[in-house]
Amino acid sequence: MRIDSDTVHLRAGGTSVVVQLDDHRLPRILHWGEDLGDLGEEALQLIALTAQPAVGDSAVTYPQPVPMLGQLHEGWLGRPGLVGDSAGRRWAPVFLTTGSELTGTAEAVTLTVEARDDAYALSLVLELEVLHASGLVRQRARLRNGSEEVFRVDGLELALPVPAEADELLDLTGRWSLERVPQRRAFDVGEWVRASRGGKPGLEHTLLLAAGRPGFGFRSGRVWATHLAWSGNQTLAAERTPANIRRLSAVEGLAAGEVELAEGDEYVTPWQYGSWGDGLDELAARFHRHLRSSDAHPAGPRPVLVNTWEAVYFDQDLDTLLRFAEEAAAIGAERFVVDDGWFVGRRDDTSSLGDWVVDPERWPTGLGPLADRVRELGMDFGLWFEPEMVNLDSRLAREHPEWIFDAGHGTGLPSRHQHVLDLGHPEAYAYVLDRMSDLIGELGIAYVKWDHNRYLLDAGHTRSGRPGLRAQTLAAYRLMDELHRRHPGLEIESCASGGGRIDLGVLERTQRVWPSDCNDPHERLEILRWTGLLVPPELQGTHLGAAESHTTHRTHPLSYRAEKAVWGHFGVELDLLTVDDETKRDVSGWIAFHKEHRALLHGGTSVHADLTETAARLEGVVAPARDEALFAFSITERPRTWPVGRVGLPGLDDARDYAVRAVFPVGGTPGGAQPPWLSDGVTLPGRVLRLVGLEMPSLDPDRSVLLHVRAV
Ligand code: DGJ
Repeated sequence: MRIDSDTVHLRAGGTSVVVQLDDHRLPRILHWGEDLGDLGEEALQLIALTAQPAVGDSAVTYPQPVPMLGQLHEGWLGRPGLVGDSAGRRWAPVFLTTGSELTGTAEAVTLTVEARDDAYALSLVLELEVLHASGLVRQRARLRNGSEEVFRVDGLELALPVPAEADELLDLTGRWSLERVPQRRAFDVGEWVRASRGGKPGLEHTLLLAAGRPGFGFRSGRVWATHLAWSGNQTLAAERTPANIRRLSAVEGLAAGEVELAEGDEYVTPWQYGSWGDGLDELAARFHRHLRSSDAHPAGPRPVLVNTWEAVYFDQDLDTLLRFAEEAAAIGAERFVVDDGWFVGRRDDTSSLGDWVVDPERWPTGLGPLADRVRELGMDFGLWFEPEMVNLDSRLAREHPEWIFDAGHGTGLPSRHQHVLDLGHPEAYAYVLDRMSDLIGELGIAYVKWDHNRYLLDAGHTRSGRPGLRAQTLAAYRLMDELHRRHPGLEIESCASGGGRIDLGVLERTQRVWPSDCNDPHERLEILRWTGLLVPPELQGTHLGAAESHTTHRTHPLSYRAEKAVWGHFGVELDLLTVDDETKRDVSGWIAFHKEHRALLHGGTSVHADLTETAARLEGVVAPARDEALFAFSITERPRTWPVGRVGLPGLDDARDYAVRAVFPVGGTPGGAQPPWLSDGVTLPGRVLRLVGLEMPSLDPDRSVLLHVRAV
C-alpha cells in the first residue's frame, strides 16, 4: 500500500511503532514500545504535532525527532548514519525520500522507504518491520551506488530511539569461562559504546544494549534494547545528546575498503533488532518467541547429549569411546558427541587444525564403527570441527600457506597456537566444505559442534592483503547454509571457546549455542540467566560436569550441578568411565527428570524474580497455558539476612489455584532449615503466590530447591 499520510503506525505482537515521514526527510520514529491501540489519522497527526520539541535559536543544536539514520545536512551532530566517500568526495550525503510503502505478511508489518541523493547518485532503501510472533522491531538499510565512481562504505548505522524515562543502561561483558556479566550505569550525555573487533561478537560481547527506567528489573520497569543480527565486527551504542535525544544504534564494523561499491553495487546492513518490555523478562520473551518461530529452530525434543571433552580431552581411541558410548546410552543419553582430538595427528592444541581426516593411528578403522555403535545404542552421533581455523603445524598449512590470513606482515600472532584460514579464498572454502560434507555424509553425523577459538586480528587475504573479516563471516554463514542444504536435519552448535559467537545472525543457521566453557553451576546460573536475555533455554547447552569444576576448581555436589544443567539443552560432560555406580544412577535420575519436564523447560516462558537479597535467585519457566511451572530457588553466597524471607512466584495466572511442591529428583534434600510448608507442599491462588509469596528454605551457598507448580 503506497502511503499518503505523513505519519504511519505499525502494530504487531503487542508493539507499536509510529513513524514520521514528512518533508521528504528520512523516517523518524516517534514512538517505539507498548501497543497504542487502533489510531485514526487525526490521532497520528496529533502525535506528530505533539512530538515536535520546542525549538531554540539554533537550527543545529535544537532537539528534533530522532532520525533512523543521522545526516549532517539536517543538523544531526550525533553518531553519523552513512560514513563513506569516493576518494574524499561524496562524503556528506543528503537523502530525500521519494516514496514509501506499508505492506503486511503473516510474519511482519513492513515500512519500506526509498530515498535518493541525486547529486551523489546514491540511493537508499530503509526497511522497518514489526514482527507478529514476537513484537520485535527490526530495521536495515540497502545502499546502492549509481555512479561510475566507486563509493567506499565505512559504516552505515541505524538507530532506534528510546524515551527520556530510559535513564539507566545495562549491558554485558565477561571473558573466557565467565561470559555475560551485567554492568549498569546512568544514561548520561555522551556515548556508551560496545565494539567487537575480533571477527566475531566475542566472549565479552554484550548481546544486548538496554536502556530503561532506573532500577528496571526482570519483572518491571520499562526497558528497551537493541541487538545486531551479525556474527562479525560490530558496534552497539547508546547515545544521549545534549538536547536529550536518546538512541540505541547498531552498525557493522567495516575494515578499510571492505565495502567498495562499483556502479550498480549494493551494500545491505545486517538487521538491527529492538525489543522492549515491562521488565527484562518481557523483553527477553520477544527474542525467545522470535527464535522459536524461526525456520532454524530445532523441531522435536532436544536430545540429551554426552560430550567427551572434559572426560577424555584429546585422549581418544575406539575402545575408550565405545565403552564411553555404552555408558552414555545406559544413563539415558540420546546423542553422543566426540569433541576435539579425532583428526590426524591431533594430540593437543598445538597441531593439526585444518586436517579434517580421521587419525589413522588412533582410529585405524575410522570413526565409522563408533558412529554405527552409537546409533545401535539409540543415540545420534555428533562431531567437533573448527572449520575456520588452522595450525601452522598441519598438512594444510604446509601445502597451502596462501590460504592463511596475512595482511602483508606474515601470519601474525598465534592464539591457542592457531591461525585463521581465509574462507574468502574460494579453494580454501571448497576444501573445508568438501571435507566436512564428506564426513557428515559418510559418518551420518547428526550434529556438528562448530568451534571458533580465536579472534581475527590483521586478517588480510593473502594475495591482495585486503581485509577479509566481513568476507569471513559471510563465508561461515554460506558454509553453514550449504551444509544444511546438503544434509537436511543436520544440527549445528555455535561454540566459540564458549559464548564467543552468539547472535541472531548465527542463530538463523544453528540449533544451539554453547554459552560458556564453564560448567561450574555457581557461574552457570548467572551465565544462563544473562545469555537468556537473547537465547531461550532450549538453545543454550548446559552440561553437568565433574564434581571439581575444570575451570574454577570449585567443588559442588551432583544435585546442584545437575539442577543447574536441567534448565537448558541438557548434556553430560562427566567421565562416565571413572565415576562410581551411585553417581551414574543419580545422573540417570536427573536425565529422566529433565526428559519428564523437557517440554515445559524448552517451551515455556522464562521468569526471574527480582529479589533484594543479592545472594538469592529464583528462576523459573511457566508453561504457555500457565497451568504448570518449575522454579529453582538458589542461594549463591552467604546471605546478609537469614532466612531470606518470602519470595513471590512470578508469571502464574492470578485467577487460578496452584499446588506447589518441592521436588528432589534423585532423593535427598539440599539441607539447611526448611519452612514448615515445604514438606507437604501447599495449594494457593496464583495471586497469593505472586503477591504474598512463600518462605524459602535457609540454604547453604550453592544449594537450591526445585519447586514444581501445577494448576489444580
Ligand atoms: C573450546 C570449546 O568451548 C570446548 O568445549 C572444547 O570443544 C574445546 N574448544 C576443544 O578444543
